[in-house]
Amino acid sequence: MLKELIRQVHWALGLTLGLVLTVMGVTGTITAFDDEILRALDRGVIQVAPRQAPPLSPDALLARFAAQRPGAKPTLLTLQGEPGGSARVTFVPAGRSKDSTAPPEKLYLDPYDGRVLGQARGEAFFARILLLHRVLLLPGGSEGPGRQVTGAAALALLFFVISGIYLRWPRSPARWRAWLTFDPRQRGRALWRGLHVTVGTWVALAYLLSAVSGLSFSYDWWRDGLSRLLTGQAPPAKAAELTKAARKTSGKDGAAVKKPGRPSLDRAWAGMKAINGGRFDSAIVTIPKDAKATVRIRYLDLGAPHNRAFNELQLDPTTGTARKVARFDDLPLGRKLMQAMVAVHRGAFFGLPGRILVMTGAALLPGFFITGWLLYLDRRRGGRAARVLAKAAKRPARSAGGEEILVAFASQTGTAEQLAWRTAAALVEGGRVARVTSLASLDADALARADLLLVVAATYGEGEPPDAARAFARKLMDRPLDLPRLRYAVLALGDSAHADFCAFGRRLDAWLRASGSQAVCDLTVVDGGERDALALARWREVLTALGAAAPAETWSADHHEPWVLTAREHLNPGSPGGETWRVVLTPPDPARLVWTAGDIAEVVARAPDGDDRSPAPRDYSIASLPSEGHVELLVRQSVLPDGRLGLASGWLTRHAPLGSSVPMRLRANTNFHPPRQARPMILIGAGTGLAGLRGHLAHRAERSLTPTWLIFGERSPRADRYYADALEAWLASGVLRRLDRVFSREDQRREGPRYVQDILTRNPDVVRQWVDDDAAIFVCGGLAMAAAVDRVLASILGRERLDDLAAAGRYRRDIY
Ligand SMILES: Cc1cc2nc3c(=O)[nH]c(=O)nc-3n(C[C@H](O)[C@H](O)[C@H](O)COP(=O)(O)OP(=O)(O)OC[C@H]3O[C@@H](n4cnc5c(N)ncnc54)[C@H](O)[C@@H]3O)c2cc1C
Ligand SMILES: Cc1cc2nc3c(=O)[nH]c(=O)nc-3n(C[C@H](O)[C@H](O)[C@H](O)COP(=O)(O)O)c2cc1C
Repeated sequence: MLKELIRQVHWALGLTLGLVLTVMGVTGTITAFDDEILRALDRGVIQVAPRQAPPLSPDALLARFAAQRPGAKPTLLTLQGEPGGSARVTFVPAGRSKDSTAPPEKLYLDPYDGRVLGQARGEAFFARILLLHRVLLLPGGSEGPGRQVTGAAALALLFFVISGIYLRWPRSPARWRAWLTFDPRQRGRALWRGLHVTVGTWVALAYLLSAVSGLSFSYDWWRDGLSRLLTGQAPPAKAAELTKAARKTSGKDGAAVKKPGRPSLDRAWAGMKAINGGRFDSAIVTIPKDAKATVRIRYLDLGAPHNRAFNELQLDPTTGTARKVARFDDLPLGRKLMQAMVAVHRGAFFGLPGRILVMTGAALLPGFFITGWLLYLDRRRGGRAARVLAKAAKRPARSAGGEEILVAFASQTGTAEQLAWRTAAALVEGGRVARVTSLASLDADALARADLLLVVAATYGEGEPPDAARAFARKLMDRPLDLPRLRYAVLALGDSAHADFCAFGRRLDAWLRASGSQAVCDLTVVDGGERDALALARWREVLTALGAAAPAETWSADHHEPWVLTAREHLNPGSPGGETWRVVLTPPDPARLVWTAGDIAEVVARAPDGDDRSPAPRDYSIASLPSEGHVELLVRQSVLPDGRLGLASGWLTRHAPLGSSVPMRLRANTNFHPPRQARPMILIGAGTGLAGLRGHLAHRAERSLTPTWLIFGERSPRADRYYADALEAWLASGVLRRLDRVFSREDQRREGPRYVQDILTRNPDVVRQWVDDDAAIFVCGGLAMAAAVDRVLASILGRERLDDLAAAGRYRRDIY
């Protein structure tokens, strides 16, 4: 809950104040090396040709300046120690009102004759960029609203760093690789997220520095707190505040001792030189407004670590003796940090690496704004698509009056559901009123109210209903209902290779008949889904008799397209089980890169030359997401008793040459799609079942959906290590809250769990807790594993509760 709230605030602030931070980042980058750039551009303003004559003293320089700029009020005089280094005077121009918030002006003077040299090339540009950085060029300067906005942005930056780290905090922080790296080959959402969170972690320190220091320029309460933290004292008052205070007191008792004018600076200047032997980089003389005031000179040593490492002197203007000497080097660290906050802000406090780090962080700020927006828009698109689907599913497809035809489906892998939608569409096209619904959502009342019911039902396990329809079968079908006014038809899907061919559809048909309903036609059985063109044509005839439009296309149309087998890799050499291969297929057209986690790839496989088996379709769970740019499968090589390889698994893992074309289509397996709403998930699978679960994990990682518990089983802990690195990385980064891996052949004598169901048996309370916390349980893999898991789950949760979870879409299985 708290995490979700933090995520929402992170989004909301990022999408708004992110723009201000973008501006601050760009301007911060431009000004990161402004001094160096100005010096490089300089043509005799910052530096003049050195001459034999000594440079003018401060008093002489100010006198020459006054002669050239009558009425201007100098506040600071900056002098350089290097021969030929120009002096610089900071002043309030003549005629400017006392209340003006405009910053003082600055001009360079020739150090030898005091001639005004003007501004350095590019100085006005950098001044403007700095103003943009500090106050967004808004009116009122540092007293105006700009400072509040940039202050708020700095606070937001601090929040982004802290909340960002909290949101992606890894379960095992020691796993730095997962924490600091991402896969640049990813695309779309996965890439944006990788960039956003991983690069964000790289530069988090820079942002922390910039935000913590930057806030002290915006908010006095922050500066005060920081100073108390670092030095144990309140900060010294800012120059502007000192001036204001001085103005106030000058009207009272201060007026008695104050002597307007300024003292001579030359004695104090000589006093400074006596202290540093005339060896200094630059010195700033604060020009007092009171002739008796002490003179404050701050100077940088030659080779000072940064341009804020000022030594501070307070000197008697008449004798030049120092009343106070504070060397930067002697200050405790906290005072150093407070005094040099600007250098901390720019990273210069930490030398060149610090400057580069801070500049890099600033330059990357726009990237976070952009990737944040891309992620937000992508999420909205996903949300909108889900809402449209949900609406369409609820809306009766009305086109004309008359009775409503209820089209119900019981589907495990989506074929029955898709046929139900096509059935309804054909009826609506013909002017009938039809509504599609899951059989699981119907109860006795709904059936009693219905006039005409068409059911499309698949069979699973050994003659059982699909998972979602189990509760319906258990609650309603154990005895006949009283449904005399209901007319109905059943389309039963199955596979004649199973002993209980179309058993659930047959049971439904018999039950409705026993409930007194009238069949509008005989049961239609479909062998092999959409491939059974004959059976589907018969069903279309039934629909036409009920008023559906005449068929415009055949439902069994083959939509397989030539995908390219681009890579395959044997993942478990030395395994006591069958060979497992990672098979990668790329689409004929990138527009085909559209599917959802849980979907199925249907491959039409052919036998190798000289083998007389006919081409046939086979299903494989998709392990990748569209953002990865390819379909990835985990294929177990099956071996027939005569030593030949299974038709499809042999073709994909051995016979088809790399680069060859594979006829394939992607089938929406809506039953195994991610839950509509964010909720905890328990993922359970064995062997190649990890494929379907990996798709879900990648989906949850992309959308930061947590928590997730993965229970995965294989045979050998040494050989069967598919996706081991990815799983560990997900565990480290918090995508997985819990990972249980069991290996049945690890050590036969060991007492520990060997199969996935053993993990459940040993953790009944944990399973119950997750389910109480609204978790969905997804199972993927072989039938035997799924049946064992189902039994254990039923023993922990109760059969009824498990069936109800299935009906509510919280217990879903992709099994084969
Ligand atoms: C929804 C779904 C998802 C699936 N996902 C995956 C997945 O992610 N990974 C995966 O590896 N599989 C998956 N499968 C299984 C996959 O579809 C295939 O069934 C599997 O690869 C075997 O197909 P095949 O063509 O290689 O073997 P086939 O040629 O169909 O042979 C399969 C088996 O049938 C038996 N058999 C076949 N011919 C003979 C014969 N003449 N005599 C005796 N026995 C015989 C053998 O036991 C053989 O191993 C999934 C299935 C479904 C329904
Ligand atoms: C694991 C598994 C078990 C199955 N068991 C049966 C069965 O017992 N009887 C049957 O007629 N068909 C069985 N089938 C075939 C399905 O009913 C058939 O493929 C159907 O078209 C699937 O429809 P659906 O995609 O809507 O779930 C089984 C299929 C699978 C993958």
